Amino acid sequence: MTSNDDVERSDGTAAPVVRLERDGRVATITVDRPKALNALSPEVLDGLAELVAELAADPGELAGVLLLGAGGRAFVAGADISAMAGLTPDEGAQTAERGHAVAAAIEALPLPVIACVDGYALGGGLELALACDFIYATEASRFGQPEVHLGLIPGFGGTVRLPRAVGPALAKELIYTGRQMGVDEAARLGLVTRRFDDREALLAGARETIGLIGANAATAVALAKRVLVGAAGTPTATATLLEIEGFRDAFRTEDMREGVAAFLEKRDPAFTGR
Ligand code: CAA
Repeated sequence: MTSNDDVERSDGTAAPVVRLERDGRVATITVDRPKALNALSPEVLDGLAELVAELAADPGELAGVLLLGAGGRAFVAGADISAMAGLTPDEGAQTAERGHAVAAAIEALPLPVIACVDGYALGGGLELALACDFIYATEASRFGQPEVHLGLIPGFGGTVRLPRAVGPALAKELIYTGRQMGVDEAARLGLVTRRFDDREALLAGARETIGLIGANAATAVALAKRVLVGAAGTPTATATLLEIEGFRDAFRTEDMREGVAAFLEKRDPAFTGR
């Protein structure tokens, strides 16, 4: 297990604000500031960037990553409001750049990342979840971009990824009103792809999905993610070229040769991730 130190803890301890655990083929990243509803302080953003980079450098046998918040009340309730109070405009922009860098690193990770939302996913919290590949949530979850209540706008990708996820008109309505929505609405919109009664069921369901993904060629899953992320928001002609390049790259892999041979030989494939 690796972690980052939180120099801000009110109890004076250097307990981790973000933790990474590896359990078999599943890695779990936990934002652990429950007293502040896991708000994204600069230390949390740095910690997330560091741990995602660590996974990218050494994915090992991992098949996927779960991202969650500690404490059972929130996934993440947004960027840390107290840390933003005295910032200059340029420092504000640097905060946004930090959040965007984390989102980009999650999207660049060649592993699927499931946002496991149990409680509030607001502002930067929803933006963090949107940077993941998909969102699973408990019935107790709440979603929204409340930045306008603070005189702010979404700064970690909400104006970019929310319209892609739910359509531009609804994204505008959500961002302009700052209203929260429950899991019923979020699931109906396709923002949440699976819902669960409680946290235990959520984590079991997410692990089950990583298990299904892990039975496939890791090379193909990583290529599919690369193309899907790269193509998001691009014109059809550009997206098509990205898909052709990804398809070409699949032919470079041992997994593709093995998968096709196994089908033709009517046996199970033995993928190696190469
Ligand atoms: N930043 C810093 N601290 C936060 C926080 C945040 N985003 N959200 C909650 N907290 C803290 C509260 O200040 C409180 O701390 P204290 O106990 O020390 O007072 C603690 O977490 C518990 O919160 P509440 O007492 O407010 O709990 P509640 O149940 O009454 O309300 C809530 C829960 C509706 C989520 C409410 O906390 C809230 O509205 N939080 C702010 C949500 C928000 O505005 N998020 C967007 C932030 S800006 C942003 O994210 C910009 C961007 O796009 C990058």
